[in-house]
Amino acid sequence: MSQKDFRSLHYLQQQDPTVFDIWKKEVARQKYGIELIASENYVSPAVLEALGSEFTNKYSEGLPGRRYYGGNEYIDEVETLAIERAKELFKSEHVNVQPHSGNPANMAAYFALLNPGDTILGMSLAHGGHLSHGMPLNFSGKWYKVIGYETDPQTGLIDIDQVRALAKEHKPKLILAGFSAYSRSLNWQLFREIADEVGAYLMADIAHIAGLIAGNQLDSPIPHCDIVTTTTHKTLRGPRGAIIMSREDLGMRIDKAVFPGLQGGPHEHTIAAKAVAFQEALQPSFSIYAEQIIKNAQALSTALQYAGFNIVSGGTDNHLMLVDLRPKRITGDVAERALELAGISANKNLIPFDPEKPIVTSGIRLGTPAMTTRGMKEEEMKTVAAFVTQALEHHANEKKLQEIKREIHHFTAQFPMFSE
Ligand SMILES: Cc1ncc(COP(=O)(O)O)c(C=O)c1O
Repeated sequence: MSQKDFRSLHYLQQQDPTVFDIWKKEVARQKYGIELIASENYVSPAVLEALGSEFTNKYSEGLPGRRYYGGNEYIDEVETLAIERAKELFKSEHVNVQPHSGNPANMAAYFALLNPGDTILGMSLAHGGHLSHGMPLNFSGKWYKVIGYETDPQTGLIDIDQVRALAKEHKPKLILAGFSAYSRSLNWQLFREIADEVGAYLMADIAHIAGLIAGNQLDSPIPHCDIVTTTTHKTLRGPRGAIIMSREDLGMRIDKAVFPGLQGGPHEHTIAAKAVAFQEALQPSFSIYAEQIIKNAQALSTALQYAGFNIVSGGTDNHLMLVDLRPKRITGDVAERALELAGISANKNLIPFDPEKPIVTSGIRLGTPAMTTRGMKEEEMKTVAAFVTQALEHHANEKKLQEIKREIHHFTAQFPMFSE
């Protein structure tokens, strides 16, 4: 990469060339690789600038207008702006924009509604749920009694009859709909009905699909849920962080759970960047982006099926797909490594009823938000599928993987990163 490929980080370069040089290597990796990690994206230059702004210098425990530190006049302005924009974007009555990330947002949501030992019914991690939905080593699995619902072995779809049966049997205080590795739309209304049948709160975690909902491509859970959490990175294409949305009457409980319940001072530079990202997502162009993400995921899934891969549930309605590698006789860990050597980022992932351990897995998860941001369309997804196929076929041949990496370098150079 030449000097003109990099943003100017003049002071960093002068003062700390060691960090500067590592940053350059990471930028080159992002620019010349194919990024298929479903939870990653490239933020805009405006989001990056807000993240690197002087808002980071300020302590502002509390909420706009009710702070425990002086000098928060402009911080109040920017946090209020982020709240108002998020309310407009998701049509939510109440929003807290302070959670540092998705895990803490879910922790705050549980903290607001539950007591330790209460029962949560959520999607099993082994079937596409997230670790903060009740993995035994996570706080959620340690502090709450967690029951997991699964996908149907035949269809790969959530078994909603099982959700209802488990809800009736275990009488959870909270039912959680949301996932990290599931490629189909959820029927929020059905979840609501089940929650009402057993008197449970209904929470959605839309961390993965928030951008697709904001871009009007998937149904919103907001009208059906008591509480909705989301990260602001991933498809929403904002800074790393999260927000919690809820009905107005739960708002105070949520605000208190975030601060002083779990967090101290909010990260106002990130909150400013969230405000910028929400404004971007409110533009008509964001709906076009969200629509293209899904078209690209469907094109990639079809091309991979054509190349002999098995896609769990037969395809995708959103930005991601789970590839079952068993027909290719390769495990997820080996596939992840081979793809990495070829310049493709992806992650190994358990598939439903996976016979392998989580550190090995039989699958990989692929997603299209990042490559869509770089301007790729359905045609390029065929090329991406061909690179993935070649890399996995030659997974044991490092020389070949290096060759593929060079080809990928030329391919990705045609698609600028957002920050260029
Ligand atoms: C559904 C879901 N919820 C929560 C999180 C946690 O977000 P974070 O990594 O920001 O803590 C993730 C992250 O992948 C996720 O997929």
